[in-house]
Amino acid sequence: MSSADEGVRLQKLLARAGLGSRRVSEGLIAGGRVTVNGQPAGLGRRVHPDSDRVAVDGVPVSVRPGLVHYLLNKPAGVVTTASDPEGRPTVVDLVPAEPRVHPVGRLDADTEGLLLLTNDGELTHRLTHPRFGVEKEYLAHVDGGTLRPAELRRLREGVALDDGITAPARVAQPQPGMLRITIHEGRNRQVRRMCSAVGHPVLRLVRVRVGPLRDPTLAPGRWRPLTTAEVRRLEVAAAGADPDPGPGPAAGTAGAGRSPTSPE
Ligand code: URA
Repeated sequence: MSSADEGVRLQKLLARAGLGSRRVSEGLIAGGRVTVNGQPAGLGRRVHPDSDRVAVDGVPVSVRPGLVHYLLNKPAGVVTTASDPEGRPTVVDLVPAEPRVHPVGRLDADTEGLLLLTNDGELTHRLTHPRFGVEKEYLAHVDGGTLRPAELRRLREGVALDDGITAPARVAQPQPGMLRITIHEGRNRQVRRMCSAVGHPVLRLVRVRVGPLRDPTLAPGRWRPLTTAEVRRLEVAAAGADPDPGPGPAAGTAGAGRSPTSPE
């Protein structure tokens, strides 16, 4: 065992952070893919999780103890703030009170679906920074029946809103009046405004994916901790890539289980 002064072995920390088994983590270090405070790290390196900055392939790894990451399926009628002056239920009322967490981005009160909450300020900053453009996917049930090809094209190519033209979006119509919309901007009420702009106001809006995360098994109002592998996939998504692993929780993760990221 290491004393607090000596720090923690890097491979142990990487394994704990969801990078894979200790053997896999040793391989990453031996392969020169791991840096500590910007410098390549060698095997046997010890680090201080509170103060050292660890990255794999240039993507920061959340190693600070005490970080928690929750995935909530927000029901309609719940507001995305820490406290609501009007006394409505908030998303933080639905997750454990300690440690205190904040929502990552926001969903409208009348929007349902997946919302991250965490006390990981650095990851929050990277996930919400427009430069990184993490994808968000929505199912929108819209008024006005089937969208015509020209309306779908407008949504895909960019719609003029009062705060500018929207970036290209992926839009499919799996059923008449039901849209699957993937955007990477985070403007206020963006999906609702886009749909209204093409003459099909949203009747119901559900977010079904945040970056690499989906979870069709999570019931409305329920939350769960992210697995360490999911946190890592978010970190990679926030660094630029945005892998969509397809349906299902934790699909496509290798080398890591579904252990929660709460402190040990
Ligand atoms: N777009 C919207 O219009 N509302 C949301 O809550 C999220 C995206």
